Amino acid sequence: MGKTIILDHPLIKHKITLMRDENTGTQAFRSLVEEIAMLMGYEALRDLPTELIKVKTPVAETEAPVLSGKKPVIVPVLRAGLGMVGGLLALVPSAKVGHIGLARDEVTHLPHEYLCKLPADLSERTVILPDPMLATGGSAAAAVDIIKRHGCRDIRFMCVIAAPEGLEALKKAHPDIDIYIGCLDERLNENAYIVPGLGDAGDRIFGTL
Ligand code: PRP
Ligand code: URA
Repeated sequence: MGKTIILDHPLIKHKITLMRDENTGTQAFRSLVEEIAMLMGYEALRDLPTELIKVKTPVAETEAPVLSGKKPVIVPVLRAGLGMVGGLLALVPSAKVGHIGLARDEVTHLPHEYLCKLPADLSERTVILPDPMLATGGSAAAAVDIIKRHGCRDIRFMCVIAAPEGLEALKKAHPDIDIYIGCLDERLNENAYIVPGLGDAGDRIFGTL
């Protein structure tokens, strides 16, 4: 059974409030989503395995921990997930990066896959799957389906804002994955947008409003 963690940190709360503000422009919005991804990544990666290596400090020789095993893979859900990659790579610069392109149909709200490029050996790696918005959950569930088909079993989905409907749908479709959420909002509206949310994350990151 996977765990669901709602990040309860004043820095994350503060930055999400700034992101919500309709007067926040593209440059600031982009910086904020990257900063939040880094703060969330710190939590999502806290159980990465380590091993001891010998190191000589200016004072003494000692054994100290470094990351061990295969490096994690970051797989943003395009487009908006791209905005979170920089913050995660700042934590693990040697991580591999895959891409899954999904676009939500404006009428049916169902995701349509237009790109999938993943590293070959996902079965032994942790995959971090960032997407700022978890609305109906359709896109996240489809992205997890794709990653599982490529053999990965350690999947950590990460979003800035989730709707209760999307969280339930994702947990039902994939009860085994871990889910990290910056803030759980009230509900979806009739257009399947998160309320109060922050609008269209992809448009606000890339200035395509
Ligand atoms: C947004 C968002 C998620 C999806 C969430 O992407 O980034 O991927 O919608 O909605 P869901 O939970 O109902 O599936 P969108 O499809 O608008 O594409 P974009 O990132 O290219 O703007
Ligand atoms: N996608 C977004 O970018 N925002 C929402 O509120 C819902 C889906």
